[in-house]
Amino acid sequence: MTALGTLDDLPPRYLDALAASSTQPLWPSMRSILPYDRPTNRTVPHLWRYREIRPLLMEAGELTPIEKAERRVLMLANPGLQGEPFATASIFFGLQLILPGETAPNHRHSPSAVRLIVEGDGAFTTVEGERCPMAKGDVILTPAQLWHEHEHRGSGPMVWLDALDAPLVTKMEAAYCIEGEPQNAGNRPDSSQTRFRRAGLLPYDRLGKVANSYAQFRYPWTEVRVALADLAGGAGPAEPVQLAYINPETGGSCMPVLGFSAIMLRPGETLAPPRRSSSCGFLVVEGSGEAEIDGKTLSFEENDVMAAPTHATLRLRNGSSREPAFLLQIDDAPMQRALGFYEEFADDRAA
Ligand SMILES: [Fe+2]
Repeated sequence: MTALGTLDDLPPRYLDALAASSTQPLWPSMRSILPYDRPTNRTVPHLWRYREIRPLLMEAGELTPIEKAERRVLMLANPGLQGEPFATASIFFGLQLILPGETAPNHRHSPSAVRLIVEGDGAFTTVEGERCPMAKGDVILTPAQLWHEHEHRGSGPMVWLDALDAPLVTKMEAAYCIEGEPQNAGNRPDSSQTRFRRAGLLPYDRLGKVANSYAQFRYPWTEVRVALADLAGGAGPAEPVQLAYINPETGGSCMPVLGFSAIMLRPGETLAPPRRSSSCGFLVVEGSGEAEIDGKTLSFEENDVMAAPTHATLRLRNGSSREPAFLLQIDDAPMQRALGFYEEFADDRAA
């Protein structure tokens, strides 16, 4: 690799002239803008322990009424990002609390959000007039610019993990939000229970039509869990048990920037996926075990959240020899694929 010239190599008179003309030489910054061989990560492997964060979230429920918060969220800030409130360079995670009787008012915004339900029941997210019940492990999409609001009609706290593409949208100086009147949602079941009830089947009137960008908003965990167990039943011991959340009309990723999938770790299993160019995070839905991310070991329990930088070496180990463990994976692979640089390094597995 060629050693490049530095700013010290240039005469002060020339540097002053560049600054006066609002220009900069690329070559002294070349290796930081385009690091050689692999990216330089600021994001570090990290785990947010739910049993430590939950009391702080509940205290937020006492300290700040919903009217003063709009969305009562504790953002998960990766320590490597030095104060930026993001889990990885491209993924925003927040734990959101809504209490019985509360409503998070109707709004829409340019970043896309996805809700991964952690605990509680009796709450709903209404997206463009479709009322989606929220139960543990469910994945609910509130895509960019679609109206959405949350309401809690049950008892006890309701908590979910928000996953947003906000780091990208804010970097683009394109993030904003507007408020709207409450939606008048009926009591009809959401489309996961009607139009998209079974994989491989579409409503007949959709044949030959241009696919909807967002056909299905809710992916119920009870059904995903059964599908994972069925997949495991037909898989060899070395085959990963992982299902991607897709748009049933396009067959593509359910969201354009962030990808969502569910992993089952069989009893005693260690999953060692290929090293990938994408960054990712995990929400533990059931079970406990250990994650090894770039050599750092993190012990996870139910409801914990983890983050891994781009190009990380990753292993996930189920701590139980009797029960399966289940994780939801969030990654930025769809955006990397769209931009044409997504890679998997199949020969570089964790040792
Ligand atoms: Fe929102």
